[in-house]
Amino acid sequence: MAKKMTIQSLCVKELPQSHDSKPHQLPIFSTSSFAFDHIQDSAEIFRGDKEGYVYSRYGNPTVDAVAQKIADLEAYGTGLNAYGFLTSSGMSAISILMMSLLKSGDTILTQQDLYGGTTELFQKILVNLGIKIQYCDFYNMDELESILQSNRDIKMIYFETPSNPTLRCIDIYAVAKVARKYGIWSCVDNTFCTPVIQQPLGQGIDFVIHSTTKYLNGHGNSIAGIIVSHHEKVKNQIGATLKLIGATCNPWDAWLLNNGLKTLYLRMISHSENAGQLAAFLKEHPKVRRVNYNGLADNKYHDIATKQMKYYGGMLSFEIDGNTKEAFAVINKLNYCTVAPTLGDVDTLILHPASSSHLRVDKSVREANGITEGLIRVSVGIEAIEDIVHDFEQALS
Ligand SMILES: Cc1ncc(COP(=O)(O)O)c(C=O)c1O
Repeated sequence: MAKKMTIQSLCVKELPQSHDSKPHQLPIFSTSSFAFDHIQDSAEIFRGDKEGYVYSRYGNPTVDAVAQKIADLEAYGTGLNAYGFLTSSGMSAISILMMSLLKSGDTILTQQDLYGGTTELFQKILVNLGIKIQYCDFYNMDELESILQSNRDIKMIYFETPSNPTLRCIDIYAVAKVARKYGIWSCVDNTFCTPVIQQPLGQGIDFVIHSTTKYLNGHGNSIAGIIVSHHEKVKNQIGATLKLIGATCNPWDAWLLNNGLKTLYLRMISHSENAGQLAAFLKEHPKVRRVNYNGLADNKYHDIATKQMKYYGGMLSFEIDGNTKEAFAVINKLNYCTVAPTLGDVDTLILHPASSSHLRVDKSVREANGITEGLIRVSVGIEAIEDIVHDFEQALS
């Protein structure tokens, strides 16, 4: 009898399967839920008696494979067993971590020069949940100790190194050591470096978060984030918060991220080499007042960067002799580089922090942190360096 074509016959059970061949590439499990031959299997998984996938907000094979790959990269060579949770964005990675570990009355100790979105999340959302924010100059270890001694509500130290957009470096090992002494969680946003350049878990940090949207993906075609840790005792708590808030990564973005990861090592080396050469060129240019790049031997953070980073990375910023008008004139003259509010892609990207990412930061705070109107941030790509340098040369002329 001819088979009747129904929706049911299109279900996964009917698809041809070959059990002895494996796909060369990671498959995309683009499915909201998983089907069961026997209802008992579903019941066992829901009860937690058996491992398995039921619903993609709870877990998805594509997403989990990529999360574990990044966790393995962050823990590589450290002897730690790390796990990872991919999230819908870098912002949701930060939010989920804070909501998992903190409660009303707790304080986050952080720096003034964080990524602007993170500062806004802390100041506009977390404060409404009763979580307080305190700022610290992490470049001064005595100040850190004295704050921790006087405020026992601090439960989390959260920082970025190098910072955005002035590339100031914080001593990861020193901060982690103090955090452990006071029994406080520590978290580093490792978006600018990736594990190819710096591995905070190996320096004693408890959690690493990323906007994987940036270097880890590298091609500007996926938005996602990740939380990585080796602390098993909070793993279920983080997983449960992620599942209930529902900020899970979708399999398509995870798959694109996985494609980017294949070239991560080569890209990070190339970004770093190009940024070093562009920084050297800008430093000698008469119209450039200051270059922020840790790879320059006379940079204030060169020693600490050399201690904790394997390469100096692809991010730099420089200040021209002028205000917003002059900075805009230079940016508009660039032909080859793209003006875009992101970073970490294979192509060179330009941003004017004072009028974009740091627009809502108070002018006095901004300027105190070196974010002047003449400051231009460059996410140096992996194109031929001659082309990038030539573009800056003609734009500055
Ligand atoms: C350092 C840093 N952390 C976190 C984020 C937030 O990431 P996403 O845009 O993926 O939410 C960004 C975004 O630019 C960032 O630059």
